Amino acid sequence: MRPGRELLLETVLPELSIVLPEGDGPVDPHIWFPAAPQKVWLEIGFGAGEHLAWQAAENPDVGMVGAEPYLNGVARLLSEIIERDLQNICLLADDVRPLLARLSAASLARVFVLFPDPWPKLRHHQRRIVNTPMLDALAHVMEDGAELRVATDDQSYLVWMLRHLEAHPAFDWMANRMADWNTRPEDWPDTRYEGKNRSGGPGATFLRYRRVPRNGG
Ligand SMILES: C[S@@+](CC[C@H](N)C(=O)[O-])C[C@H]1O[C@@H](n2cnc3c(N)ncnc32)[C@H](O)[C@@H]1O
Repeated sequence: MRPGRELLLETVLPELSIVLPEGDGPVDPHIWFPAAPQKVWLEIGFGAGEHLAWQAAENPDVGMVGAEPYLNGVARLLSEIIERDLQNICLLADDVRPLLARLSAASLARVFVLFPDPWPKLRHHQRRIVNTPMLDALAHVMEDGAELRVATDDQSYLVWMLRHLEAHPAFDWMANRMADWNTRPEDWPDTRYEGKNRSGGPGATFLRYRRVPRNGG
């Protein structure tokens, strides 16, 4: 890692890092932001953070939480945060799952899982993060009507995602027509990872699901 990035991890990351309190009680993510945000959104596996930084800049009233264990990516996002003076971001430089287990019920208004590692080999499919335990955890922490955005450019993972999402009672696909999944929504910027793959692969699919209201309404 470049020395500048290491320095960012040592000096800036602690300022923006989420610290979960001891115990196993639920934690309201709104308290992590200096100016209590109206809504909190979570990006899981933000890579180098281009999408997260864009959403934070476009939605200053939203508190953006990002979880990503890849430290080079975290450091890239940190330099972007400083350069653009973004004030509404909190980070967990780690696996998202322990965080999901602690978030209070219905505390997130939007969740992004963009281009998760496809794990194409059959014997690695159990490593895919879009799976039933993850969807159960998201169903718990997402508020009624909250949006879950998932994307992939891997056709086998796409089938897997649709199978798991369509089988889950807490999520409803928002698509009505082809353009709803094969065309990039305007408020969904490109990332470096996605750009790299566009030259070769069959293209990305953009899935938007709604958290079904708990009272069935
Ligand atoms: C293929 S990359 C895509 C990055 C980014 N979303 C993008 O579109 O550019 C997938 C990312 O998910 C992260 N990741 C994998 N498992 C994770 C987990 N359990 N919690 C948080 N992030 C995870 C990886 O470290 C990796 O950076």
